[in-house]
Amino acid sequence: MSARTSDPEAYLRQPAGVAERFERIRQRPVILSVRHLSKDFESDGHRRPVFEGLTLDIHRREFICAIGPSGCGKSTLARIVAGLDEASGGEVLLDGALVTGPGPDRGMVFQGYTLFPWLTVKANVMFGLEMGGQAPAIAEQEARQWLDMVGLGKFENAYPHELSGGMKQRVAIARALANGPRILIMDEPFGALDAQTRAQMQGYLLQIWRKVDVTILFITHDLDEAAYLSDRILVMGANPGRVVEFIENPVPRPRSAEQFQSPEFLALKRRLEEHIHPPMEVEEVDLLPMVKLTHADDEVE
Ligand SMILES: Nc1ncnc2c1ncn2[C@@H]1O[C@H](COP(=O)(O)OP(=O)(O)OP(=O)(O)O)[C@@H](O)[C@H]1O
Ligand SMILES: [Mg+2]
Repeated sequence: MSARTSDPEAYLRQPAGVAERFERIRQRPVILSVRHLSKDFESDGHRRPVFEGLTLDIHRREFICAIGPSGCGKSTLARIVAGLDEASGGEVLLDGALVTGPGPDRGMVFQGYTLFPWLTVKANVMFGLEMGGQAPAIAEQEARQWLDMVGLGKFENAYPHELSGGMKQRVAIARALANGPRILIMDEPFGALDAQTRAQMQGYLLQIWRKVDVTILFITHDLDEAAYLSDRILVMGANPGRVVEFIENPVPRPRSAEQFQSPEFLALKRRLEEHIHPPMEVEEVDLLPMVKLTHADDEVE
């Protein structure tokens, strides 16, 4: 495991007040810098912008959650940061270096299960390490450490189809972290899990993040999840995609499920909900066509 895990707690020490906490975060170096980023896709001969002028800075070891309406470009942003897609304009800097393609300094975890089905759990985690030139014996030792970290040491010889969805995602997290990324990009990683497993995974992820020197960009549609996990919440808007607000999460750390009823948590959720359901007039384009497939006197309210 990399030396960067030696004193990760130093970056998370809790000062007394929220303002002080964010002052401390701001003093950490910027690890990810997105500058005037734009992306458009060509469809039907037209250039359609996904987002324009996206600018944001993320500090070392911050836990950022991104929310926003479907289609506002969250996954596109994640793919560009990961180097899997090219921007149409602007730039992404990681640790001051221009992102020009994929690299081991960025790890990805997606909603869909992406483990290699023909490899054991351990071989899945070893894969990137061996591709990076690690000797098999060292890769195996590292893989075991990461599997222990996500609580799956006993399953190293299992195959992905023998695991539950939550376990598969824990292996995916171990596999991504094994390569020693500076930033972990997670695109709705728990979206396919049932509510109970999802809550459990959120707890695991916070524990892992406390122990590993990694910054997290986590995309979600779930406001509770964003409020529970994040330091700051990136609220994006659509048409074209843009940064609406970057909200500093006032809920104290360490987090626990009891905080879901705390005044800070409820206030934050209210603010997020205002973004998701803004009080506006329904536009004609939002109305579905009046096709009726019920009988007379068969009305619902
Ligand atoms: N490869 C592509 N070619 C053309 N258009 C694309 C492509 N990928 C994404 N888009 C378009 O870009 C826009 C943003 O897509 P993106 O998947 O980034 O949204 P999102 O915010 O992640 O949405 P969701 O919340 O539903 O996951 C959408 O309008 C989508 O149709
Ligand atoms: Mg998406």
